[in-house]
Amino acid sequence: MGVDVSHAAIGASVHGQQINTENSSMDRIKIIGGRKLHGTIPISGAKNAALPLLITSLLTPDMLTLKNVPNLADVNLLLRILRNHGLDLTIDGKRAAPRNYPGETFHLSARDIVDTTAPYEMVAKMRASFWVLGPLIARCGKARVSMPGGCAIGTRPVDLHLAGLKALGAEIDIDGGDVVAAAPNGLTGNRVVFPKVSVGATINVLLAAALARGETVIENAAREPEVGDVATCLVKMGAKIEGIGSSTLHIEGRHQLEGAVHSVLPDRIETGTYAMAVAATGGDVVLEGARLDLLQAAFDALGEAGAEISETETGVRVRRNGSGVAPVSIETQPFPGFPTDLQAQFMGLMSKADGTSVIRETIFENRFMHVQELVRLGADIKLHGDAATIKGVAELHGAQVMATDLRASVSLVIAGLTAEGETTVNRVYHLDRGFERLEEKLSRCGAEIERVSD
Ligand code: EPU
Repeated sequence: MGVDVSHAAIGASVHGQQINTENSSMDRIKIIGGRKLHGTIPISGAKNAALPLLITSLLTPDMLTLKNVPNLADVNLLLRILRNHGLDLTIDGKRAAPRNYPGETFHLSARDIVDTTAPYEMVAKMRASFWVLGPLIARCGKARVSMPGGCAIGTRPVDLHLAGLKALGAEIDIDGGDVVAAAPNGLTGNRVVFPKVSVGATINVLLAAALARGETVIENAAREPEVGDVATCLVKMGAKIEGIGSSTLHIEGRHQLEGAVHSVLPDRIETGTYAMAVAATGGDVVLEGARLDLLQAAFDALGEAGAEISETETGVRVRRNGSGVAPVSIETQPFPGFPTDLQAQFMGLMSKADGTSVIRETIFENRFMHVQELVRLGADIKLHGDAATIKGVAELHGAQVMATDLRASVSLVIAGLTAEGETTVNRVYHLDRGFERLEEKLSRCGAEIERVSD
């Protein structure tokens, strides 16, 4: 019996909230625009793979070793939540060489799950922490997890997560803002057909299915490389999964999963962000460790905009010399389309293009908070529904700006790098959620950028 989760929707939705982070630092980033970027930028492990991989450690009593874990506020926040469930962590990564960020190696051991609740104070700060739900039900037969918060980029319901887990046999109630789930006799594999592509719901069901009895088939699964990275790790832990990277995943659950060693894949959004920075300022930078195949749609758009992209032995080289930035219209789409997580950055780039472009956001309904801040820098952008029309201007001018989410903040950094004069990006804690040593990586390539603490 298969379950089309569009008909099993539970109606649990939560409105996007202003994000908080454990790091409430009010640091600012100061940029003097106009410098071209030259050099090498090491690309860190992907935030959006590291987070679910950390959660994956809840599925086994054995040791899961994760390499190349980025040092980010979101990672630290999730660790706090996982420790509450009983996770034990040791870190032995060496972070010595100043031109090299090898990432950290985490040894994660969830031998005993001591607590199956994830309270509001923790989950409200980061949406991905909701993904503990599937693993906790699968391993412990019960869980109580608060409805999530996350970036203020739109209504972000969890109906697909819940319907998918229900399809595997979980009984789910909502009580006082918490999802209360039980599967006293364990989960059983099933066919789950998602009516809409969701990275988080795919991960939640995938993780649960790895410990469920029998086979689960997820149709219309998210194909994002981070989902594939989690599936690959699960295979190392003993799960049998076919269709990794495709929209249909076949998961043969196991009674118990084992420990494994896995390296977090490179961050394609960090890669795309720096590529767009180089396209915006001009220059020549090698993004070390980056993979072209993880980001083809964005690189295609950058190529059309006038950047030269090539693969090197160590990563991806991005150049723009001489030519201006050509206007390119894009629409965000699930992978392999243009990622929503690069939409703001691309708008920053288009702000100074030689003509007009249109950017359509199809994934989140409220992911345009960077627009008014880019306008403060002199950009000419008009919003109409889910699209923005950007008339390229000859010059942007430095100003005080702030943003309300991670990717919006970094679009302001890109714009600031090309603006005349000084730009101050406030609320740097948004950046610290997802970019490791951003100002250091950029200043090594010649940008005039520094962090200012009060
Ligand atoms: N959706 C539903 N019901 C659900 C789940 C999602 O309607 O139960 C909708 C969402 O409202 C949205 C769409 O489906 O309109 C896609 O959301 P998805 O579930 O794919 O997003 P997510 O899992 O919450 C992850 C990333 C986001 C990234 C999106 C899309 C992590 C930790 N988060 O979020 O990353 O934008 O996928 O690719 O992996 C970021 O890193 O800045 C970020 C926001």
